[in-house]
Amino acid sequence: MSDLKIYLAAQRQKVNTALEATLVKNDKSPRIVKAMHYSLMAGGKRLRPILCLAAAEAVGGDSENAIPAACALEMLHTYSLIHDDLPAMDDDKLRRGKPTCHVAFDEATAILAGDGLLTLAFEIMAKAASNSADNVRSWLKVIQLIAAGIGYQGMIEGQMRDIASENTKLTPTELEAMHTLKTGALIEASTCAGAILGGGMSEQIEQLKIYARHIGLAFQVTDDILNVEGDPELLGKAVGTDMERHKNTYPALSGLAASKTFSHELIDKALQAIKSFSNKAEPLRAIARYIIARNR
Ligand code: IPE
Ligand code: IPE
Ligand code: MG
Ligand code: MG
Repeated sequence: MSDLKIYLAAQRQKVNTALEATLVKNDKSPRIVKAMHYSLMAGGKRLRPILCLAAAEAVGGDSENAIPAACALEMLHTYSLIHDDLPAMDDDKLRRGKPTCHVAFDEATAILAGDGLLTLAFEIMAKAASNSADNVRSWLKVIQLIAAGIGYQGMIEGQMRDIASENTKLTPTELEAMHTLKTGALIEASTCAGAILGGGMSEQIEQLKIYARHIGLAFQVTDDILNVEGDPELLGKAVGTDMERHKNTYPALSGLAASKTFSHELIDKALQAIKSFSNKAEPLRAIARYIIARNR
């Protein structure tokens, strides 16, 4: 196994253990807990929490301090996926290799499971803040920046544009803005949250923000590419759906080859942004390369 694979597996394990401890489920759990747990533990890549932990380490901090934020970020991401898959949005039946939440449960339960994960994320970050002896201000900053990232001027606005622009053709500038909002904003917030909780200096945080902005866009460009030529078995979700729904994507706008070239350019820029970082940023560098090389 490559160093990155070992690193990702270890970090994923750490995140999964912390998530299981936060959202405890057994046979007697209420239906809402079962639905939240079902989607949360269905086996995602855990990219956002891993970025958060890696950013804390990259600035010389202890990633243990960032674990509650890492869990919150994965809950927020999972909430966004549950709602993204609803009939009123992308109407998808498969996610993370399993029936989507509204298929496995029902639509009302899926809406509420998303709501439950969204609110739990903020509860656990507020708890971390109130338990923190000397880091309350950092936690408040993190809560604010994550709320803004996923909110009506971030991810929610991106999702709004995605739905509103079905069957219309966005310009390249509009497409980039939509992708940056719907997917980039949470990836940027994840990276910056880790850097803040790791005690990063403002210059480091600025450089990581530029890094994250580029990998965030590259991540969604790659998601678009995989929707055209990916393997649904590996992806755990259907392919060809963007074209069916007349979504605005990079392959639809400029073709597969140009989309791939663009994603490579974005990763080069991301790596450039963190050039001055020590070898503690190696995981972030490896993650950037992985984002466009992945097949799931
Ligand atoms: C899928 O995200 C949705 C996008 C924002 C592109 P991921 O590809 O990170 O999905 P999981 O978490 O691994 O399932
Ligand atoms: C998902 O975007 C973005 C969010 C959930 C915020 P997509 O709709 O393009 O992602 P997939 O392909 O369903 O995972
Ligand atoms: Mg969508
Ligand atoms: Mg979707």
